[in-house]
Amino acid sequence: MTDTLFAGLTPAPADPILGVSEKFRADPRPQKVNLGVGAYLTEEGKTPLMEVVREAEEALAQSGQAHTYIPISGLPAYTAAVQKMVFGADSEIVLSGRAATVQTLGGTGALKVGMDFLHHVCGETRGVSSKPTWGNHFALLEQAGYEVGSYRYYDAANNDVDFNGMIEDLNALPAKTLVILHSCCHNPTGYDLTSEQWDEVIAVCQKRGLTPFLDMAYQGFRDGLAADAAAIHQFAKSGMNFLLATSFSKSFNLYGERIGALHVVTQSAQEAAVVLTQLKSCIRCNYSNPPAHGARIVERVLNDPAKFAQWEEELAVMRNRIRTMRHALADEMARIGAKRDFSFITRQNGMFSFTGLSPEQIDRLAADYGIYAVRNGRICICGLNTGNVEYVAKAIAEVL
Ligand code: LMR
Repeated sequence: MTDTLFAGLTPAPADPILGVSEKFRADPRPQKVNLGVGAYLTEEGKTPLMEVVREAEEALAQSGQAHTYIPISGLPAYTAAVQKMVFGADSEIVLSGRAATVQTLGGTGALKVGMDFLHHVCGETRGVSSKPTWGNHFALLEQAGYEVGSYRYYDAANNDVDFNGMIEDLNALPAKTLVILHSCCHNPTGYDLTSEQWDEVIAVCQKRGLTPFLDMAYQGFRDGLAADAAAIHQFAKSGMNFLLATSFSKSFNLYGERIGALHVVTQSAQEAAVVLTQLKSCIRCNYSNPPAHGARIVERVLNDPAKFAQWEEELAVMRNRIRTMRHALADEMARIGAKRDFSFITRQNGMFSFTGLSPEQIDRLAADYGIYAVRNGRICICGLNTGNVEYVAKAIAEVL
């Protein structure tokens, strides 16, 4: 008898971002360039092993620690340190204990646990993110059972944020809508809100009874760790409930360790304690408890002021290289007389530039030049280096 359970299945489409890496890997051309996934690469095109990580791993290897289960909510030394780093050790949120923090499988894991909690435990049914956004936001919301929508964010004509459109759309949302917001280094546009604009967003969220869920995957890639958390401090000061997903994949180059955190900011320590029990039950029935290695590395750095300073320095090197490459690409586009002005690239933040290239132009870059990017026109600046920036600029100019 034929079992028909899987017989009628059609293949799922390749992931719009990680699928780009697969195509890049399969391309035999030596001059190929990967501007797809948001992952830092050195001038030599390699994922770095940070010195501060190497030292922590050496110390861990020496310690001969056994591989026990860690708590469902994560390593306590890690969650406490991350909470202090994100909100500030002397902040009202940390001192009052009104945030519940759990270790998660990267930023994506934090988003998923937070969405499950808001949907299954708090009864939220609608979720929105910016248009455009990181594609996985919509997919995650859908998988978690939400009715999915978007709010305007990008002003293509002026290469800026469509702030009026954003506020208008947020103002039209029903109460208890989960609103995903990129707290810095907006993915994919690279355009962030000013602090005055954040104040307005906070006021709308409060007035409409919306539930902000901030996503901070790129802390440290705009102006530095503390400065990049500015929007978080504004939300903290407002006194409202909000959720925050943070990740160390990028800032520690710990992509494969899946190390992130979910913070749920409530009204009191009592509320936070109850929320923590609910988060633990969401985690337990997903993956039981998180892995230990990434948390042990990060915890060692965050809890040691000298190592923390060393990490910040290494992060600054990465941030500065990206900025240099932004300028190099924009300058080269101008030098060769590209049909369009690309100076906006230098005004964008973080790893990405939203180029305005069409899907067909992105396809031509891949087919004719072996240059891979996301079809929505996002390029990851980290894939550029002094050896390939002229080649990339010329290719972009030719597909315009
Ligand atoms: C990206 O946007 O490229 C990164 O966040 C990696 C990913 O998982 O998509």
